[in-house]
Amino acid sequence: MKILVLNGPNLNLLGSREKAHYGKLTLAQIEKKLSTLAKELKVSLDFFQSNSEAELVEKVQQAKKHFDGILLNAAAYTHTSIALRDALSSVALPFVEVHLSNLAKREDFRRQSLLSDLAVGVVFGFGPNSYLLGLAGLVDHLKNRGK
Ligand code: DQA
Repeated sequence: MKILVLNGPNLNLLGSREKAHYGKLTLAQIEKKLSTLAKELKVSLDFFQSNSEAELVEKVQQAKKHFDGILLNAAAYTHTSIALRDALSSVALPFVEVHLSNLAKREDFRRQSLLSDLAVGVVFGFGPNSYLLGLAGLVDHLKNRGK
């Protein structure tokens, strides 16, 4: 089983960016934790981060051929990108939406996600553990699909 871990804008700055919201781990450190969990779950992961909406849309479009599901932190595009929503809807690959911070505790504009209703599930507020919980949930969903 192959999962694409897709990260959106400014998540390349994790570790130095607004630590009160996003913690002190870098994206590479989070990816390492995900790789350890993926081994236990016996799934393989590919990682991709981009600041560009177009690149993220392309990656989602291509994912259909290569992956069984997507673990997605679309960052700010969560709240703005109809293009990303349409791509996810078009490929119809199961995905789990994750966020490091608790969106319900933040600015009003972060409370709206254009993606959540398409997702298998959403995890937010647990820092890097949001990714680990999201991966476990996605793999469980994929393994139990149709059962
Ligand atoms: C985020 C939350 C978004 O609102 C924000 O734009 C991000 C990160 C999170 O992981 O908490 O860049 O997705």
